[in-house]
Amino acid sequence: MNASSPSPAQNQASTATLYGGVTNRRVTVRDLAAAKQRGEKWSMLTAYDALTAGVFDEAGIPVLLVGDSAGNCHLGYETTVPVTMDQMVMLSAAVVRGTKRSMIVADLPFGSYQESPAQAMHNAARLMKEAGVGAVKLEGGERSARSIELLVEAGVPVMAHIGLTPQSVHALGGYPVQGRGDEAAHQLLRDAKAVQQAGAFAVVLEAVPAELATQVTEQLAIPTVGIGGGPDTDAQVLVWTDMAGMTAGRVPKFVKQYANLRAVLGDAARAFAEDVRGGAFPAEEHSFH
Ligand code: KIV
Repeated sequence: MNASSPSPAQNQASTATLYGGVTNRRVTVRDLAAAKQRGEKWSMLTAYDALTAGVFDEAGIPVLLVGDSAGNCHLGYETTVPVTMDQMVMLSAAVVRGTKRSMIVADLPFGSYQESPAQAMHNAARLMKEAGVGAVKLEGGERSARSIELLVEAGVPVMAHIGLTPQSVHALGGYPVQGRGDEAAHQLLRDAKAVQQAGAFAVVLEAVPAELATQVTEQLAIPTVGIGGGPDTDAQVLVWTDMAGMTAGRVPKFVKQYANLRAVLGDAARAFAEDVRGGAFPAEEHSFH
């Protein structure tokens, strides 16, 4: 085999489908690039613990994101802003331990990369060395391009995140749809091209008009991952607690709920409490003698 002929693993990357094709190793950035070439759409879910991540891994979800949405979906904060590097390392390590095949991407939380490319590198290295993730995600287009470039040069796969960037919730005054109007749409296209140019292997497009997400997807060579970006992005991501109906209260318009886990768990807890109150639990089969 010479340097230019593909290895068996490289062949696998270019011919396997993401679902079921990658069975004995983790999904890589090469698999995702090959999926875009084939026009194969893929899914990404957030995960914050080993057990849930294991379920998604077994279900064949090719990419799991340890999102800083852990702030509001796992740790009880109102926004993603308070999430720390130590928390992200701990949650990411659990997700890595609980999975075998999914690529694990971890968010760099607010304040962990905005100061300088060197700060971004320091904290990305923590997520890779201490937690074992395969890639990191950070928010921002043109404004984050220098950091993305340094990380990619150093061998860190980077997923970018543009459109609605939840770490800027206070500056944005909430979570408004982005990219509306000519100037905002042009800026989104510039951001998308800037992160691709900087070497990102994929880009999340959050809360942007579907037509604009389609345009970005057509103009980029790297996969786009939509959340509130309509049907034409290369991949779709949802926060798992929204997708499975664990979230309390209202969920965003772009969420589809595939289960009602909150009701299922609540019913189980109420049944347990009732059994204990009435003496039905524990029964003979649950007791040692
Ligand atoms: O933190 C997160 O869960 C995210 C997704 C919404 C893409 O960034």
